Amino acid sequence: MDRFAQLEEYRQQALLGGGAERIAEQHRKGKLTARERLDVLLDPGSFEEFDMFVRHRSSGFGLERQRPFGDGVVTGVGTIGGRTVCVFSQDFTVFGGSLSEAHAEKICKVMDLALKIGAPLIGINDSGGARIQEGVVSLGGYADIFLRNTLASGVIPQISVIMGPCAGGAVYSPAITDFVFMVRGSSYMFVTGPNVVKTVTHEDVTFDELGGAETHATKSGVAHFVFDNEVDTLLSVRKLVGFLPSSNASPLPSVPTRDDPERLCPRLDRIIPADPSQPYDMHEVITEIADEGDFFEVHADYAPNIIVGFATLGGMPVGIVANQPNALAGVLDINSSVKAARFVRFCDCFNIPLVVLVDVPGFLPGTDQEWNGIIRHGAKLLYAFCEATVPKLTVITRKAYGGAYDVMNSKHIRGDYNLAWVTAEIAVMGAKGAVEILFRKELERAENKEERARQLEEEYNNQFAHPYRAAERGYVDDVIIPSHTRRRLVRALKRLSSKRDANPLKKHGNIPL
Ligand code: HXC
Repeated sequence: MDRFAQLEEYRQQALLGGGAERIAEQHRKGKLTARERLDVLLDPGSFEEFDMFVRHRSSGFGLERQRPFGDGVVTGVGTIGGRTVCVFSQDFTVFGGSLSEAHAEKICKVMDLALKIGAPLIGINDSGGARIQEGVVSLGGYADIFLRNTLASGVIPQISVIMGPCAGGAVYSPAITDFVFMVRGSSYMFVTGPNVVKTVTHEDVTFDELGGAETHATKSGVAHFVFDNEVDTLLSVRKLVGFLPSSNASPLPSVPTRDDPERLCPRLDRIIPADPSQPYDMHEVITEIADEGDFFEVHADYAPNIIVGFATLGGMPVGIVANQPNALAGVLDINSSVKAARFVRFCDCFNIPLVVLVDVPGFLPGTDQEWNGIIRHGAKLLYAFCEATVPKLTVITRKAYGGAYDVMNSKHIRGDYNLAWVTAEIAVMGAKGAVEILFRKELERAENKEERARQLEEEYNNQFAHPYRAAERGYVDDVIIPSHTRRRLVRALKRLSSKRDANPLKKHGNIPL
């Protein structure tokens, strides 16, 4: 056969994956094929495929008669917004996307390249797991990937997109990566499926309840992002990549904006309610100060008492961490501490400045929290802020009470620029709690207990419910009116872009896991 024609024929075979019927089945399930997904993810025409002709070398169970090109995964490079990314996309139409030795080798090759050239790695997972016919060889293939995920952690951003089954040990590659995207209704992740669960714990649970997108977005926190369909999911991966540097050694992207860096935010002057026990929505503060009001929230449905996500300020990407008074009064608990700690560490790995908005009444009390280890988990957030060396900016909007004041990127743990709104209350605790402790005996003796408590609370508030005790000592660099927040932050970010700071040399720290 003509060699040119032969290449074309082989390519056509490879492009068909598991064949027209299986592709139609994939579409019937509302899913795109591995290659269609890459078309949505990458800039048009930018994809360059590797290893299209790789086949497995296994025999037994009839495998020797079934050796499709590509072996169930499409790998290569492309661009997003003109910047190189490395990708793999599992092809469910070939052996259910199951991972064989050859399939794993293809993924490892593209992972090695991503690490060498300093490009983000995006993996689209749609797989029945280890290729059963290959036994331990396939398990070894997974381990090769886990090792690379770990070595690449903190060097290149790694993003996992779950678009079908992801079960057993296979979940641990996405789990090590930085961000997990899922699709409602068609993706699931679990270590053991509903049948095993039924046998072992006698629980009746569906695939979706056990490990669907909603479950992982709200209950387990495994998924950082969920969307209703594959296209929205892939477009959001593109959006995320737009905030990130290509590697820990690459500059941050500069995101063009028409939003005036000096813009005032007058709405913020009215956002704090007169009654300190009334909540408000911290999202409004974030969208007021962010360029064009654009905030890309991570983990939006998990531990909503803390908000984390990306925005740009004056065109500079930042990671925002903010207490949310609208949920559990913005208290720090186990889930919110772990959520924010991981986000802070991600930003620190990749030199993304942190902007921290503080309105926190303290840590959540109770046996549930104590017995499940709020001490250990709260320490993660403290540790993460302490070790971070990126530019660290803090704005205290209202409450900064107790240990949570220290934790939330205070001056003492290397906050570079700490501002307090005039509405800030920086103290060991709120007036009510403080008066009950300090004046318990006096209040027991008082004729009109309520009136005396009110007087004492007022006295306490006069002394402590403001930012000037902290300002007096330089614990905050300035007290500002809220409408000036954006311009002050943008100026500080510019100033701090040349920041250099380092931690003592060590193999690695021992974050309380
Ligand atoms: C080989 C597999 C396979 C696998 C699916 N296929 N999973 N082939 N190894 N692990 C094949 C099927 O035989 C079938 O081939 C085709 O892919 C499509 O599968 P269906 O079952 O027809 O599809 P569907 O009904 O959509 O069900 C998908 C599924 C199911 C839920 C994923 O296939 C399934 O339960 N597979 C096994 C999952 C599993 O237990 N994997 C091992 C987990 S342990 P034909 O030719 O008939 O179309 C694991 C450990 C990882 O992965 C370890 C890391 C350390």
